[in-house]
Amino acid sequence: MIISPEFSFKDLEIILLDKVDSTNVYAKSHQFNKDALIISDYQTAGKGRFNRSFYSPKGKGVYFSLVLHDLDLSAQLYTILMALAISEQILNSQIKWLNDIMLNHKKVCGILAESQLSGNHFSKMIIGCGINLFKTQVPPELESIMTFVNQDDLDANYFLKKILKRFYELLHLDRATVIQLYKEKCQTLGQWIKINQQSVYAYDIDLEGHLLCYDQDNHNYAFYSGEVSSHA
Ligand code: BTN
Repeated sequence: MIISPEFSFKDLEIILLDKVDSTNVYAKSHQFNKDALIISDYQTAGKGRFNRSFYSPKGKGVYFSLVLHDLDLSAQLYTILMALAISEQILNSQIKWLNDIMLNHKKVCGILAESQLSGNHFSKMIIGCGINLFKTQVPPELESIMTFVNQDDLDANYFLKKILKRFYELLHLDRATVIQLYKEKCQTLGQWIKINQQSVYAYDIDLEGHLLCYDQDNHNYAFYSGEVSSHA
């Protein structure tokens, strides 16, 4: 296991698994007495956005879900905080709005934040993160889009602690500062992109984390979700 059984962080309940279908699914199907962190060395059915799968080979990445119960922010904003916290720990990485961390134009980390309803109120926020750490053989169809942190002497325990520490620091910073820091790391701004089948120019991110764009007819858009690709 790349994360040690002694791993701890603040007051979080830590659940360290050898193997699981998906840490997000585990988080949804279990109750926790307090905020929790589910970490697995391997996922057999890692989930990505838009019902995609997330390739999670054994011992090659850190796959975790942070479960929060006091929900002050939207899934969008928690994603922004986590994306920034992770990107700051990966040298030369950039963020592709909203939740992909990119290194040399390939994806090194994906984030899937899901809120869970209980009755008619939100009871849990599950922030699932998969960070590809150590280089390994990947399926041919992923070779051109997936990469690894691959830093010499990388200690996954220390790396994960730094991410969590930064996440909680950002959680307590004012919103405008967080969005400004996110924008500085975001590669999506200042260019024509494709999102949800539309060609638009991405020019800003508002305080809710929406991507602000205009099209060639000067119509304005605020996207709250969507898959960004470069303009063809
Ligand atoms: C994406 O790239 O679309 C999001 C990927 C999120 C993957 C992480 S790995 C840990 C957690 N458990 C899952 O099943 N998915 C998230």
